[in-house]
Amino acid sequence: MSGTPRIVLSSDHAAIPLRRAIAAHVAGLGWEVVDIGPMTPESTPYPERGTEAARRVASGDCRLGIILCGTGQGIMMAANKVKGIRCGVCSDAYSARMIRQHNDANMLSLGARVVGEGLALDIVDAFLSAEFEGGRHATRVAMIAALDD
Ligand code: RB5
Repeated sequence: MSGTPRIVLSSDHAAIPLRRAIAAHVAGLGWEVVDIGPMTPESTPYPERGTEAARRVASGDCRLGIILCGTGQGIMMAANKVKGIRCGVCSDAYSARMIRQHNDANMLSLGARVVGEGLALDIVDAFLSAEFEGGRHATRVAMIAALDD
């Protein structure tokens, strides 16, 4: 990876404090954080927040993305509708590592009403420090990509 890697963060209204904590943490790890909000607590629909972040990743503007809503589920479902996105919801660090290593996930989704801040940061660390293993997993990820068409 050349230059400072960019990562997009987005959430709905249910996850603003956790998103801000993750943004500060990830910036501290050396990533350029593109936090697309929301910045104010009004209700905002998770499908819009998820797909806006997903388009940043799918276009190549950002290398990875982290999205959040109350459960992490709705915003993940929306993000996965964007071609080229592989997003998983994680509530544990093992899964976060594995979705990078085996599934080449390019987005992580978290539930702010499911995980506390300490666990969320561990999950983020696992996701960001893992690399796709390729090999037999590449064949399977290509099969997922073929479903986009
Ligand atoms: C908002 O109340 C809630 O439905 C949303 O944050 C998310 O959990 C949906 O999947």
